[in-house]
Amino acid sequence: MIRILVLHGPNLNMLGVREQDLYGRQTLNDINGLLDSWAKEAGVHLEAKQSNHEGDLVTWIQEARGQFDAIVINPAAYTHTSIALRDAVLSAEVPTVEVHLSNIHQREEFRQHSFLAGVALGQISGFGPTSYMLGVHAALDHVQSKQSASK
Ligand code: DQA
Repeated sequence: MIRILVLHGPNLNMLGVREQDLYGRQTLNDINGLLDSWAKEAGVHLEAKQSNHEGDLVTWIQEARGQFDAIVINPAAYTHTSIALRDAVLSAEVPTVEVHLSNIHQREEFRQHSFLAGVALGQISGFGPTSYMLGVHAALDHVQSKQSASK
């Protein structure tokens, strides 16, 4: 069974309460519920975790090596600051999709740069919770094409 790890960065535990105009009314539990339903239907093993701490995210990415086929991550504010997350993705060698609820390219200049984008398979930004759904689809598609190419 294909295994996908979904990681949510800092302040995403506040979804549904925080800046609703930007991030909508859905809570993190709502989003994880959507992901779980999708995973059941797609026959994928999916685990989702959130942390407000950069080191937790680094550790979870490292631990994904050999354990998960793909990572879908919303690094939240660490997108724009964290070389450590970028290095973790490089060392884990697990294909990683970067997702954002808001369109970071339409926001403040400091949000328009992502340290992760250069090492991610790709970035999906601006579709609200659908960004996560597109992210897991893209991750699954990538893993399946790699598997069929190696058969
Ligand atoms: C975010 C965008 C980031 O700039 C911000 O710090 C977040 C959420 C998004 O999903 O749109 O916390 O990653």
